[in-house]
Amino acid sequence: MKPNTINQFGGNWTEAKMEIVVNYAKAYLTIMNKQSWVKTLYFDGFAGSGLIGANEDVEAIKGTALRVLDIDDPKPFDMYYFVEKDKKNKDSLETRINIDYPHKKDKAHVVQEDCNVKLNDMANFLKKNRAFRALAFIDPYGMTVNWKSIENLKELGIDLWILVPTGLGVNRLLKNDRKIPEAWLLKLESFLGLSRDEILSRFYSQKTINTLFGDETLVNKEVEIIQRIGNLYTERLKTIFGFVSESFVMRNSTNSIMYHFMMATNNKTALKLANDIIKPKYRL
Ligand SMILES: C[S@@+](CC[C@H](N)C(=O)[O-])C[C@H]1O[C@@H](n2cnc3c(N)ncnc32)[C@H](O)[C@@H]1O
Repeated sequence: MKPNTINQFGGNWTEAKMEIVVNYAKAYLTIMNKQSWVKTLYFDGFAGSGLIGANEDVEAIKGTALRVLDIDDPKPFDMYYFVEKDKKNKDSLETRINIDYPHKKDKAHVVQEDCNVKLNDMANFLKKNRAFRALAFIDPYGMTVNWKSIENLKELGIDLWILVPTGLGVNRLLKNDRKIPEAWLLKLESFLGLSRDEILSRFYSQKTINTLFGDETLVNKEVEIIQRIGNLYTERLKTIFGFVSESFVMRNSTNSIMYHFMMATNNKTALKLANDIIKPKYRL
């Protein structure tokens, strides 16, 4: 393979994450196949270039977008919508679809945009086109997805797989001494859709002690903080969706948690499917 652009990121969890999405997509299409009136949309909010390469010495592998395009059994999706902010990546994915999937190019849309904008557009599309059901995959590196974008998805036929940067994002902003810069507090608020007081009370305890020189406030960051962040995001998703799956917890080589990967849905069967696919070995 000689890609124009290869996304440089890796780890076994990348493969596991793609496997989860593809296995889920196949199971999803099997169910939708029995409901002939339903039209299916695959929405990929951080689509990438189509290829992933761990480094220059390692051969590129297909990214999730192409793997989902490969699915024909039990049936393909009726429509694909790929969002990618980077022009080079967007062009590369588009070229690959035109060359390798010419029979699908008319129903595969690739747009250069911010995922937040297109999540909003998808919500409006689904409100107007009630025959459509969407499987959405949101795979950012960092805290890019605003809570407002998730809130807009309420009461729609969406199964949303989302990668939550619990260790690599949120935890890094929660400073041990609780002295968090204003810009970081604003980021935490927009990401979690909560006020700073609500957020801080979830992750810190404070107590005042009397000392010889007056009162002193002691601040403690809670233990198992990254797991708490994962639990909070699950809780937030449950205010928008009927059900949220267990998390596939991704760790780095030193066993620190980087991400929680979870699925939100309004459909109980979909929840069971997702939990079956996130095999016990993936759980914390
Ligand atoms: C983790 S990679 C995606 C990998 C891909 N999901 C896969 O499994 O093959 C993240 C991609 O998101 C793109 N990106 C970054 N910020 C974005 C945004 N706000 N909206 C859409 N795409 C964005 C990056 O250019 C990058 O290609």
